[in-house]
Amino acid sequence: MNQSIAIIIFSILCFCACAPNPIELETENLFGSLPKEVNHPIDNSPTMEKALLGKKLFWDPILSGSKDIACVSCHHPNDGYAEQLDLSIGVGGVGLSENRMNGVQVKRNAPTILNTAYNGISSEGEFNPSEAPMFWDNRSSSLETQALQPILSAEEMRGSEISELDIIDTILLRLQNIPEYVSMFHKVFGESGISEENLGKAIASFERSLTANDSKFDQYINGDASALSSLEIRGMINFTEVGCANCHSGPMFSDFELHVLTVPENDKLLEADRGDGNFAFRTPSLRNLVQTAPYMHNGIFETLEEVMEFYDDADDESQNSNVPSQNRDEKLEQLNIPDDKVASIIAFLKALDDDNFDKEIINEVPSKLPAGGAIN
Ligand code: HEC
Ligand code: HEC
Repeated sequence: MNQSIAIIIFSILCFCACAPNPIELETENLFGSLPKEVNHPIDNSPTMEKALLGKKLFWDPILSGSKDIACVSCHHPNDGYAEQLDLSIGVGGVGLSENRMNGVQVKRNAPTILNTAYNGISSEGEFNPSEAPMFWDNRSSSLETQALQPILSAEEMRGSEISELDIIDTILLRLQNIPEYVSMFHKVFGESGISEENLGKAIASFERSLTANDSKFDQYINGDASALSSLEIRGMINFTEVGCANCHSGPMFSDFELHVLTVPENDKLLEADRGDGNFAFRTPSLRNLVQTAPYMHNGIFETLEEVMEFYDDADDESQNSNVPSQNRDEKLEQLNIPDDKVASIIAFLKALDDDNFDKEIINEVPSKLPAGGAIN
């Protein structure tokens, strides 16, 4: 990791030295390549069978109150394990991607599951999977804990027929009546078999297998100087220089901190989304953006060009009438985005994409319900 950071400092300095007008760069907030291996919690060591069990559960609508929504309904491999809608559609929803409709309106956009194994990674490449921050407001930690939240949520998977207190027991009982799950849980977890804890562990183990850590950028940092074009390299330098890396730092291009950006509200929602309570949201990773549009916590921007326009305007005034300008994160004021740098920055962001991840479509799940729920 240190080596990767060293290389990027070197390439930036080298570029500056060669440029006719040397540029002063902040070198504190840098980024680097992702480690090839992910860390697992001590009490949830990975096995092939465990990840496979997690994958089946991820695709199985048996985990939803009305047995018609699976995790994959909103985090589908064809959509980079994110979704094409601005805001998720939960209980009662039918269809997939831009064709998903009806159903309960969820207040946020589904982030990708890709690379969530690295959530919380520091600029030094350190990360603790048991404390990995989850959600746009960081309100949950670890994939194991997070995995049960959508099942409990009335909007996303539970519905209103079964109470929050009863839903997990109801789901566990359903799983106990499916011989394939009984034997898989037993094989993977031994005596403890089907339990709330093991449900979270299996899903988390599958999610940790969803990595996309070999983008052109990673290849470049790891020594292949030809992996990035000169436009992309210029974009990388401009990205740092205009101030993006003050928040989008480290190997995930996120400090995993909450910031008030004043992103405009999505008119589909009757009430403003206050994020952590004060309109702050977590810096998202910038990896795999090519596959995860639309952008921001409420999917308000469809393209990276729109995101860049937003930052250009947000550096001197609030873009959300609920949030006074002085509440904006002060790092926004430091942004300075000359028009002629936008194209290279976007080219660089696209070079953070790695299309080589598990895209397997599951056609049959142990419950024999339609795999993926009412998505077809
Ligand atoms: C109805 C759509 C929907 C379903 C179904 C759904 N999710 Fe999500 N998911 C979302 C939304 C929306 C968010 C962001 C919510 C927030 O930040 O408040 C999210 C966030 C997440 C995150 C956090 C990622 C990060 O980087 O912070 C993970 C992990 C995740 N979901 C996994 C799952 C799993 C596992 C399941 C199934 C048990 C599931 N989701 C079911 C819509 C959905
Ligand atoms: C003050 C910290 C900060 C700075 C500086 C910053 N960002 Fe962000 N960025 C964030 C936060 C926080 C979000 C999520 C905001 C939300 O959803 O309300 C975000 C969201 C994004 C997204 C959307 C990603 C997604 O998956 O939805 C992109 C793209 C992005 N930023 C690129 C940039 C670029 C390019 C720059 C430099 C011009 C930049 N950011 C500067 C904190 C920052």
